[in-house]
Amino acid sequence: MSDDIIPVSPEWAKRAYVDEAKYKEMYEASVKDPVKFWGEHGKRIDWIKPYSPEAVRDVDYTGNVRIRWFHDGALNVSANCIDRHLAKRADQVAIIWEGDDPSKSKNITYRELHAEVSRMANVLKELGAKKGDRITIYLPMIPEAAYAMLACARIGAIHSVVFGGFSPDSLANRILDCDSEIVVTADEGLRGGKPVPLKANCDEALKKCPKVKKVLVVQHTAGKVGWDGARDVWWHDAKAKVAADCKPEPMGAEDPLFILYTSGSTGKPKGVLHTSGGYLVFASMTHQYVFDYHDGDIYWCTADVGWVTGHSYILYGPLANGATTLMFEGVPNYPNSSRFWDVIDKHQVNIFYTAPTAIRALMREGEAPVKKASRKSLRLLGSVGEPINPEAWLWYYRVVGDSRCPIVDTWWQTETGGILITPLPGATKLKPGSATQPFFGVTPVMVDADGKELEGACTGNLCLINSWPGQMRTVYGDHQRFIDTYFRTYPGKYFTGDGARRDEDGYYWITGRVDDVINVSGHRIGTAEVESALVAHAKVAEAAVVGFPHDIKGQGIYAYVTLNAGEPYSEALRKELVAWVRKEIGPIASPDIVQWAPGLPKTRSGKIMRRILRKIAENDFSNLGDTSTLADPGVVDDLVKNRSH
Ligand code: WTA
Repeated sequence: MSDDIIPVSPEWAKRAYVDEAKYKEMYEASVKDPVKFWGEHGKRIDWIKPYSPEAVRDVDYTGNVRIRWFHDGALNVSANCIDRHLAKRADQVAIIWEGDDPSKSKNITYRELHAEVSRMANVLKELGAKKGDRITIYLPMIPEAAYAMLACARIGAIHSVVFGGFSPDSLANRILDCDSEIVVTADEGLRGGKPVPLKANCDEALKKCPKVKKVLVVQHTAGKVGWDGARDVWWHDAKAKVAADCKPEPMGAEDPLFILYTSGSTGKPKGVLHTSGGYLVFASMTHQYVFDYHDGDIYWCTADVGWVTGHSYILYGPLANGATTLMFEGVPNYPNSSRFWDVIDKHQVNIFYTAPTAIRALMREGEAPVKKASRKSLRLLGSVGEPINPEAWLWYYRVVGDSRCPIVDTWWQTETGGILITPLPGATKLKPGSATQPFFGVTPVMVDADGKELEGACTGNLCLINSWPGQMRTVYGDHQRFIDTYFRTYPGKYFTGDGARRDEDGYYWITGRVDDVINVSGHRIGTAEVESALVAHAKVAEAAVVGFPHDIKGQGIYAYVTLNAGEPYSEALRKELVAWVRKEIGPIASPDIVQWAPGLPKTRSGKIMRRILRKIAENDFSNLGDTSTLADPGVVDDLVKNRSH
């Protein structure tokens, strides 16, 4: 924990949209009368049919759970991100694309974006896509990913973007869950100079997805790919045959915009569903205020469009605001660990938003790679995805930002659609390691394990009362799971799954997940997913997976594995299991440590005691708690004895 407090500089208080007094005033107004507040701010986007004052907010967190915002309004999200800027900024750059290869970059103006998105929309229509259809997008970080997402929004199709690092199996499960009949992919992606075989993965996945009729393929590396002439269509061929204009489809505010799969504590990943109106209002408003985005700023979020951060803060928020947004294909350490800072100089980036894991990895390389670049254009830094430890925060602040750029540590989730707890750079004193204060309209509450609300300074579980327009509306195809996951633990409240501390100034310090979700380098992985991948291996009888503290990744994956009776334990098999999980789920889910466990600690009713497994993984044997209720207390001693590193 850090005692540093960094005050708002007078220049920031003056230039920002809100200073401290204005924040207080707006925040109070937003919680006192949310209908009035959001009724006014909903107008920041263009509506084809305006919403009525009665339809601004319709929310019930009890019973069947209903969340609707602006529900009688109609709009088109792609028109809001493109068409409405054409009169004023057709020639302004909308997207700066920076390739994995540092010699490759390109600028796409709003006029070009309009033409490309329209073409992609027309091609999708020709392939049979209609309003309400689900389209799966499995692309690298190339402009076509933005075109595809916006093209779906333009014709009213619901996109489901699947991160390019996911395996064929993970892709297949996501295609099947939402019943996509069209997939958009590329020949290959490129990361750190190495090709990622997207089309080949897709071909493999589609063996399990007979309903997929068409695959639109972007040629990116010109690598060799397999081809199904009846199913596969090259984007460059198809686009030459369609018009560069496509009328945006009017959509109801509550019509779905996208599904994004995310891991939870149980079962398979769930399809988080976001709708059109409220999501766009919230993504654009948070982008403007949190990053204090002004016309002419160059803004860079380093996330991948396969995650929610890429959806809300590379694409929808910035483009709705008419911003210039940078999209980066590569990785922080290729061709060397100055890459981020070189790109900042190259494109004169003013606002830079990245993840703690990247900061920690770069911090290890020392200051020299940072100091090689000038970084004079930088004005504001942001962090997202996991708690940032004060040490990394201070390095980011002092070394990267030369102690002149505020850091916005933004807490939010796939489910929340946009940033909920965050500093505003002109308003909020910073404490390294704290996400600080709620955004407008957001009311965090802290509860203890029994659901009792805690007052003042406290430690507990983080819940939210009141809705905000960017909130998810349901789990695609499984509303009951939505209710059970988020609204049952503490009735009447949305439970985030995060633990937190609130200090005497009302600042929030997020401590991390309190459920069975592991946050590895800012990527959410359910312990249940890794366990089911492990037990799918022919030699594995049982597996239990927990998180453990990891210097760079924040958390690592620790797997306890019991083999089938008589199966010999070997180093080769250990490696095979790690590779197996990589293949089953994707590289982000590879276990860091596999410990052989001839037995797992279980209660007499057969429940695995994860609390004990977490302690052993953390190398903390002093506090294993009461193990006398275990069916076989001896297994704990064995595990402790064999704790491997
Ligand atoms: C964690 C990413 C601390 C948290 C936008 C949350 C954070 C999960 C922060 C959501 C932060 C995200 N400080 N923890 N600034 N931001 N988290 O759905 O545990 O990929 O519940 O959304 O990441 O991850 P998700």
